[in-house]
Amino acid sequence: MGEKPASVIAIYPGSFDPFTNGHLDVIERSTHLFDTLVVAVLENESKRPLFSVAERIAMMKEALRDHSSVEVGSFGGLLVDYAASQGATVILRGIRAISDYEYELQMALMNRRLHPEIETVFLLANEAYSFISSRLVKEVAGLGGDISGLAPPNVEAELKKKFQGV
Ligand code: PNS
Repeated sequence: MGEKPASVIAIYPGSFDPFTNGHLDVIERSTHLFDTLVVAVLENESKRPLFSVAERIAMMKEALRDHSSVEVGSFGGLLVDYAASQGATVILRGIRAISDYEYELQMALMNRRLHPEIETVFLLANEAYSFISSRLVKEVAGLGGDISGLAPPNVEAELKKKFQGV
């Protein structure tokens, strides 16, 4: 439990396959709390993602281009090692409902055990977004349903391209 650094860097890790308005909401809330936020996409091809890491990064950079304190990157290996390499003292995660809590608690406590100086901070997404998940956005888009308002416009457009070729 050290001193507060002069500049607080937080990491917001995830799969972001794809980035949704729920993620965007958590990021926008966090910009008041941290000097720099590094949004970090997990490089894990075993999850059979819809979008490649490069595609996800490009979409997120576009959706976040007006947020000057937010950077977008990717990482492999342990999250705490990546966080330390970025000089981050905070891991940021969003919580939608109580069902998210158990998984988040396990990860936060494991990360604390691995790297006690890095603190996990949870933010609540706006309740209007609490039903949004990347998995459901993909499923609905894949079945031709309306996903407007669930993801940033450029992500919506990329989903339509993937599934409908338009
Ligand atoms: O968006 P997700 O899929 O819920 O994000 C999960 C993520 C990327 C935060 C988590 O899988 C992760 O941190 N993976 C990196 C590997 C790691 O550090 N594992 C041990 C910590 S529990």
